[in-house]
Amino acid sequence: MKIEGKEYRTIWFDDDKKVVKIIDQTKLPYKFIIKDLKTVKDAINAIKIMEVRGAPLIGGTAAFGMVLAILENNDLDFLKKASEELIKSRPTAINLQWAVHRMNNKLSMINSNDLFRVALKEAKEICDEDVKFCENIGINGLKLIEEIYNKKKDTVNILTHCNAGWLATINWGTATSPIYHAHKKGIPIHVWVDETRPRNQGANLTSFELNEEKVSNTIIADNTGGILMQRGEVDMCIVGTDRTLSTGDVCNKIGTYLKALAAHDNNVPFYVALPSSTIDWNIKDFKDIPIEERNPEELSYIEGKDENNNITKVLIYPETSRSMNIAFDITPAKYVTGLITEKGICEASKEGLKQIFNK
Ligand code: MRU
Repeated sequence: MKIEGKEYRTIWFDDDKKVVKIIDQTKLPYKFIIKDLKTVKDAINAIKIMEVRGAPLIGGTAAFGMVLAILENNDLDFLKKASEELIKSRPTAINLQWAVHRMNNKLSMINSNDLFRVALKEAKEICDEDVKFCENIGINGLKLIEEIYNKKKDTVNILTHCNAGWLATINWGTATSPIYHAHKKGIPIHVWVDETRPRNQGANLTSFELNEEKVSNTIIADNTGGILMQRGEVDMCIVGTDRTLSTGDVCNKIGTYLKALAAHDNNVPFYVALPSSTIDWNIKDFKDIPIEERNPEELSYIEGKDENNNITKVLIYPETSRSMNIAFDITPAKYVTGLITEKGICEASKEGLKQIFNK
């Protein structure tokens, strides 16, 4: 998708310099900076401090991180340690371990002379596949938006939470892909963007990328969705996910669950968009999903632009107050109207997922 009118992906490999290029998302929306990752440590750090974030992009970064590890030290023991460190860099999004396992499976029988070439090819394939899957999510989700538009014959209002946009994937996004497809088809769309405290991925990233693509949107405080749904101002919700269980239970950014409850109470369809790399086929009980807890300073300090256009960070809580920063929550399957995947739309249930993925 576009930034300042130019097409980008969120991550790519510079074949001449042998570095990984990323868009540094900690600097958006005020600065657009492309950063080089030169070592596997750089990749681990980028995931930890969220220069890259969003489940599919974390997976893509981990895959390229392994390519960087091979460039540093063409040795399977070093690669094993690098894999372990990569998997530990963030716990909740399953795409991270999925990508590392896929890379290791591919590399386990490869001769050391071929390691770099095979790893680079596989990392690029992981990213290309994500782009294709997200595009298909868009084509499948577009039908839902069209149905609403054909009945309403007026702007379709869609609420989304966090950033499940192209910046969270390699391109297109998950939740935003149906939106971009509908927009490109000329369907009038307006997006309610949850600010998404504490890191404001909605305000800083979703609204930013929708603006760049000229999709009408309004940022709302995280608690506003409920009243908008009661007033009939939300036609549907579409969110992303960091891990969806085979039971259809959905783990996503903190606050998703409350939106699903409000949607259920107001008969607003609540859809979750995901590529199959986000499905955890092993864990059966959502209580077993590792839920990331981040530094409370992400809540108590906020960054923004002051009146002199300087980026500043300020404390917004009493100095002596404690705060807590749980990063994800679980929306039980019963509150999910459907899962929009690359293979089609299905019920959020074991049977629904089995029908389209044959597992
Ligand atoms: O903490 P983040 O910004 O990595 O969380 C991102 C989300 O929760 C997204 O909704 C999810 O990864 C889906 S991305 C297509």
